[in-house]
Amino acid sequence: MYLLLASTAMRNFIVVGHKATTTPNFSLEDIPGTSGRLDILCRAVTSAFVLSHGIRKDVCVYLVLLGGETAKTIQLRGETLRHLNPDERTTAALLKKALAVPATPQWAMSTSGIFVRTGGFPELLSDLKDARLIYLREDGTDIRPISKESGKECMACASPSGEMAFILGDHTGMMPEEEALLEQAGARVVSLGPVSLHADHCIVLINWLLDTDPVMFE
Ligand SMILES: C[S@@+](CC[C@H](N)C(=O)[O-])C[C@H]1O[C@@H](n2cnc3c(N)ncnc32)[C@H](O)[C@@H]1O
Repeated sequence: MYLLLASTAMRNFIVVGHKATTTPNFSLEDIPGTSGRLDILCRAVTSAFVLSHGIRKDVCVYLVLLGGETAKTIQLRGETLRHLNPDERTTAALLKKALAVPATPQWAMSTSGIFVRTGGFPELLSDLKDARLIYLREDGTDIRPISKESGKECMACASPSGEMAFILGDHTGMMPEEEALLEQAGARVVSLGPVSLHADHCIVLINWLLDTDPVMFE
């Protein structure tokens, strides 16, 4: 079966930070060393949203932070996102503010377009149950266009919401229990090639694919 990545659907990117702090008590002077590698997530945010002149409106990023007692998720929505600059420090400062907001299981707004709540990966997958889930992993099915044969299915149209959600790990990849949840949820495992890339670079490639003509892949 061949799938079509349509360029009009909402793009959701989920990045799981297994050690990422859930408190604002980290130093902007040493983000990698004091925040459980929140720097990886900051770069993912930049790659997801930042254009040469502007912010992508059709993108939503979920950062799953698992490096605390209670998991938290930060949501950034392109439609209303403000104050995002291309540099890592500004993004980390926005996340720091979000982590200072008292979090409950309901989304609470921090700054424009940035929301926070308690809850981790299972809760998020449940929220995105109507989206087509695409789990990016080095040994998945090759994403490159391979055919335009018949029997194709529109990737965006195939989900009731027309949304796509791309799931990426951090420097530790994804845990077996998370992969089991993804499998149960029907996620497709897709590769950008055998070389292990940084998560933010993967996001740039996905945005590029979706910006260009619809792409076929198996
Ligand atoms: C730095 S990589 C993880 C590296 C490695 N898997 C590990 O165990 O440390 C971060 C994430 O980017 C995504 N990724 C990296 N390279 C990829 C590729 N070639 N194809 C698809 N996804 C990739 C995966 O989701 C991965 O979990």
